[in-house]
Amino acid sequence: MKKYIVGNWKMNPITREEARALFTETKKYTTKLKKTNVILCVPSVYIADCKALVSARCLLGAQNIAHEQTGAYTGEVSGSMLKKLGVSHVLVGHSERRALGENNLCINQKIRQAFKADIIPIFCIGEKERSLHDAWYLHAVKTQIEEGLVGLKPAQLATLIIAYEPVWAIGKDAKREATPYESEEMAIYIRKVLSDMFGPASAKKVAVLYGGSVNEKNASLFLQSGGVDGLLPGRVSLNPKSMATLIENAETSL
Ligand code: PGA
Repeated sequence: MKKYIVGNWKMNPITREEARALFTETKKYTTKLKKTNVILCVPSVYIADCKALVSARCLLGAQNIAHEQTGAYTGEVSGSMLKKLGVSHVLVGHSERRALGENNLCINQKIRQAFKADIIPIFCIGEKERSLHDAWYLHAVKTQIEEGLVGLKPAQLATLIIAYEPVWAIGKDAKREATPYESEEMAIYIRKVLSDMFGPASAKKVAVLYGGSVNEKNASLFLQSGGVDGLLPGRVSLNPKSMATLIENAETSL
């Protein structure tokens, strides 16, 4: 199975020059990779700048895609526009966009638009909170998957990437770090939900990543015992040296 390190730059850096430098610096650590794909999800205004920097193992991702193909949608950027600028992947359903009002229906439309434009969606899911007393978080994630992926063809799962990102573990205000056990439990559960929807053969093909306060210290733990095929770092993706550690860990993991 391929491995993935997906950097989510969020609303950083501040200038085009810094964006180009960050892409170029990170790319240096990808030249010898055999099984790991690094995907850098940059702010939309830097996509055109980064197009020329894309290489075989350092790919260009967007952080959002419009829910429609063309038309009167002020401020939106369509899948075909992104595709023409060299975008191969797009984050869909990130919790920070859900917090701005995106619901499962809109996320489903965005995933369909991504496939239509031949862009691979990186579908982000994850519960807001976790209680020690019940397992509602499993139900929350199940609903996100069922509603987010409704109507997809089983064959489309061959390229789909799912990122499990528990909201409570994301960002500098995270409650705590998730454990590899929590990641593994959810990776198994995600595949079970996918299997019930699309059949076991298609479910097996989906790459499942972990995201939420991934860093140089915990990366190998998630990759070795978190049951996942890769990682989705946010803050750490702004530091090429830290990214080098994550990339190296992915490349040497089983
Ligand atoms: P973080 O962000 O690594 O800074 O917690 C991860 C994400 O939001 O994708």
